[in-house]
Amino acid sequence: MEFVQFSVKENVGILTVARPAALNALNDQVIRELSEALDQVDPGVVRCLIVRGEGEKAFVAGADIGQMSSLSKAEGQTFGKLGNDVFRKLETLPIPTIAAVCGFALGGGCELAMSCDIRLASETAVFGQPEVGLGITPGFGGTQRMARLIGVGRAKELLYTARKVKAPEALAIGLVQGVYPVETLMDEAMKLASRIAANAPIAVRAVKKAVNEGLQVDMDRAIVIEEELFGSCFETVDQKNAMAAFLEKRKADPFVNR
Ligand code: CAA
Repeated sequence: MEFVQFSVKENVGILTVARPAALNALNDQVIRELSEALDQVDPGVVRCLIVRGEGEKAFVAGADIGQMSSLSKAEGQTFGKLGNDVFRKLETLPIPTIAAVCGFALGGGCELAMSCDIRLASETAVFGQPEVGLGITPGFGGTQRMARLIGVGRAKELLYTARKVKAPEALAIGLVQGVYPVETLMDEAMKLASRIAANAPIAVRAVKKAVNEGLQVDMDRAIVIEEELFGSCFETVDQKNAMAAFLEKRKADPFVNR
């Protein structure tokens, strides 16, 4: 892969968009490589995934404007589907995901971050959906995920105006869950990922599925989704060992993901 790197460090996967000459902008090749990298994430090994952009200036500065500039209506829709399919693959990845956003996260970059479960930002981070200033709508899920994440009124204000949001405001409106100096952002993301990775992986994956799928349906159906996933954790090695350790008043062994 030319523009996307994937590595694993102690059960934590790190996926890097690496096209710094264009501020990591997403052309069709980058998007296809992101998809390929996501296919490599093995939940048997990787317990949490961090998504980042190369360099300190940009997480991702959006979809590639040069490539989009000459698209027809049909090609525009196809390009939207390409991004949407990959971002949905990221959103529904069985393991938790953290976007570590350093610098610009605009357009498709903001949408990439919003497709992750949790967003941590550098003090220099800038978020926004500038699309209406380019004559288009957000195309990789921005209209949908932003409204769900920060509420309809706030999202519409940002989407209609194309206003950029700096890190402190992003934290205040719940777009990100933490803001750190540039130098410590990745350490903080690793710390959070390691903390998640230290918990029972089957249970953590079930929590993600319960939250994600439960939010799409009414409460009666949602609690049934939770019941089924709650039940699915029983009889696992990790459930048996962790509960036995509690009852025997001893420290539990590390979880084995079985
Ligand atoms: N697409 C293509 N190239 C991009 C890009 C993008 N989205 N963003 C930055 N670049 C390129 C620039 O063209 C430039 O390349 P050259 O050196 O070859 O000229 C290089 O990255 C550096 O960028 P700048 O010189 O513009 O850097 P700056 O510091 O002056 O400005 C910036 C930084 C404010 C982020 C500015 O680059 C910018 O506004 N970028 C576009 C942001 C944007 O509008 N994103 C939304 C795209 S639409 C979208 O994403 C649709 C969707 O929902 C799918």
